Amino acid sequence: MTNIIEGYIGKRIDGKKSRIPARLDFIQSATGLFLGLFMWGHMFFVATILISEDALNFVAGAFEGSLFLSEKQPLLVSFIVFAVFCIFVVHACLGMRKFPINFRQYQIYKAHAKNMRHSDTTLWFWQANTGFIMFFLGSAHLIIMMTNPEITAQVSGGRMWGHFMWPFYLILLFAVEIHGGVGLYRLCVKWGWFEGKNTKITRARLTKVKWALTVFFLALGLLTLGAYIKTGYKYAELESPIQSEYQINNDIKGL
Ligand code: HEM
Repeated sequence: MTNIIEGYIGKRIDGKKSRIPARLDFIQSATGLFLGLFMWGHMFFVATILISEDALNFVAGAFEGSLFLSEKQPLLVSFIVFAVFCIFVVHACLGMRKFPINFRQYQIYKAHAKNMRHSDTTLWFWQANTGFIMFFLGSAHLIIMMTNPEITAQVSGGRMWGHFMWPFYLILLFAVEIHGGVGLYRLCVKWGWFEGKNTKITRARLTKVKWALTVFFLALGLLTLGAYIKTGYKYAELESPIQSEYQINNDIKGL
């Protein structure tokens, strides 16, 4: 009954407003923080291909339990991806609440952003748009990883080059880095983390750190993407019929 009354008049019987929106905001922040920090770890994990193919294969193997099981268990990776996917879905669901839901709301947002010329308001627009892109691309990536948990440099490179997925990853990379950078910055501002005596100075510093991190992870991500494409190309060349014929001829000639 209380819920029905609150549904009609926006207040509970005791006259107080529900605390649920505040709780949802908290869950959104907590899941966002988890995903933001997870992405830093993830970028370093995939970047191990820059050291060598073996380095990536070793770390991927560790996720499959190679360090403590007699045989690798790819299902462990599927389980980790499933857990991350659940958090990703909860975060996306809660983020959706903040989207303008019709043209009028969008118009109001644009008018405010134009009038105020407030950089944080403009950043919010980027965060909402990149979040929208990630609904689709992030979900597709996670489903691919969940159903193909055996990660190796050859398999990942094959996906990038042979399956022509590098444009997909290029867009996802920019969306993730912009979204994550702005998201972590907004978390600091919202919850007052690292706040000094002068909030203007704090914000200016946070903005600098945010851009530095975004540029760093974008550069790392682009180099990593290049390494996957190169690896995929290498294996595609080795497997191509022309190459095989060439190899056979060379073998016959004893070269
Ligand atoms: C536990 C979950 C995850 C695993 C195991 C995983 C694994 C991988 C692997 C192996 C690659 C290399 C390419 C490939 O094999 O297809 C990759 C690339 C990538 N992943 Fe994930 N991923 C996970 C979660 C996520 C999430 C949540 C996002 C963001 C929504 C994401 C964004 C990316 C991006 C942008 C790249 C390209 C990186 C680059 O080329 O620099 N991943 N991931």
